[in-house]
Amino acid sequence: MLESSGDVEPPKDKKVFVKTYGCQMNVYDSQRMADALAADGYGITDDIEDADLVLLNTCHIREKAAEKVYSELGRIRQLKHERARRGRETVVGVAGCVAQAEGQEILRRASAVDLVIGPQTYHRLPAVVERARAGEKIVETEYALEDKFEHLPAPERNAVRSRGVTAFLTVQEGCDKFCTFCVVPYTRGAEVSRPVAQIVAEAERLAQSGVREVTLLGQNVNAWHGEGPDGREWGLGRLLFRLAEIPGIDRLRYTTSHPRDMNDELIAAHRDLPALMPYLHLPVQAGSDRILKAMNRRHTAADYLRLIERIRTARPDIAMSGDFIVGFPGESEADFEETMKIVRDVTYAQAFSFKYSPRPGTPGAEMGDQVEEAAKNERLQRLQALLTEQQRAFAQSLAGTEISLLLEKPGRLEGQLVGRSPWLQPVIVDENAGRIGDIVSVRITHAGSNSLFGEPMNPATGLKTAAEGARV
Ligand code: 5AD
Ligand code: SF4
Repeated sequence: MLESSGDVEPPKDKKVFVKTYGCQMNVYDSQRMADALAADGYGITDDIEDADLVLLNTCHIREKAAEKVYSELGRIRQLKHERARRGRETVVGVAGCVAQAEGQEILRRASAVDLVIGPQTYHRLPAVVERARAGEKIVETEYALEDKFEHLPAPERNAVRSRGVTAFLTVQEGCDKFCTFCVVPYTRGAEVSRPVAQIVAEAERLAQSGVREVTLLGQNVNAWHGEGPDGREWGLGRLLFRLAEIPGIDRLRYTTSHPRDMNDELIAAHRDLPALMPYLHLPVQAGSDRILKAMNRRHTAADYLRLIERIRTARPDIAMSGDFIVGFPGESEADFEETMKIVRDVTYAQAFSFKYSPRPGTPGAEMGDQVEEAAKNERLQRLQALLTEQQRAFAQSLAGTEISLLLEKPGRLEGQLVGRSPWLQPVIVDENAGRIGDIVSVRITHAGSNSLFGEPMNPATGLKTAAEGARV
């Protein structure tokens, strides 16, 4: 965390507690909602019992994620009663993808809830909260005609500064791909790209507040497109080059991508843009062409492997990350073996794997031939064992090498800092807190189970790596 330079914040009379579930876009959205509420006089609290407004930013991607919200709402109901006994009112809001998908149903199932707000209407949150405080029960899930990003306030200076040296920036939202397992096209709506000028302005603000690494977010981030200041149509590759020109922005990433939208320009950016980190999350989901077709992924396993080869030719040190689903309807043992095979062929540095969870309203949920839970469990275990082995091998392969490290935050022990490797791994080094925000060269001494350990290459002068440049 960066040290405050002594700006004084006005006292906030009301407090909001925000709990975030699910993906990085929810993390970003929670921050923007907190900014909108801060502009309306709310302070942030980490103590739910102290909160006048409790906001759950929810995830609907798998059943387990959605169900967690209802059990949390049960606990919040108790809390609300206890606060009411002490004469304190609590407004309870549900935001995010469960809000969008279930709307009115949430008010029916969870009596503690006062307001339900979908991701497209966050800019209306302060007004909605005011109405809820006046006693109204509100469901706000219509897609707004106005651009929410235009209407969300710019983050407060202090709020941004306290966020640290890495940040998310949503550039694209929604999805038109309609994979048959996925609720996203229904909860986040159609694909929308934010305009170049808006994105550049937000990245500049982040840079001014000390952010050095920006991760561009989108459900289909590599489908991002927009009109550049030159009047030409830009793709994500061009946008990345533009953002890398901003002084202070030294590292860029983007997530999550679809294989069909990895175009030549973006692959070339991996070759030509040093600020673009050599790490790519590119989910394939399954390795069997029959299952890929049933999932409506619209590419084959061979297409994916060819694509990876092109990306690796452009950027040989790139590390791959992916998502996998086991037990999609109709998946046989032989189909699953194809998933194991593609994992062996690609070799992942990092991966997320899930049991298929039928989601209401998606085509997959209606398919016959659903796979038994026991088979799903067994396949997930086998897949995760292989992925964990690959992840460990990748971490171990870095021992003895010199890497660049963005010093991010204090470590658990005095005199230690945690930094972020180009491949998103936490690296622990002995450094003083004044160096947070610097990009330094370290030699990796060894790999632990969750992090790497490194030693500064030149602690006396603290020379920065040439590849990423020194900051002025
Ligand atoms: N069941 C299991 N996993 C799913 N994902 C998306 N929908 C489902 C589902 N119904 C996984 C995909 C996606 C990741 C974000 O979540 O792997 O890439
Ligand atoms: Fe879901 Fe497929 Fe869209 Fe990704 S590309 S958000 S998995 S529908």
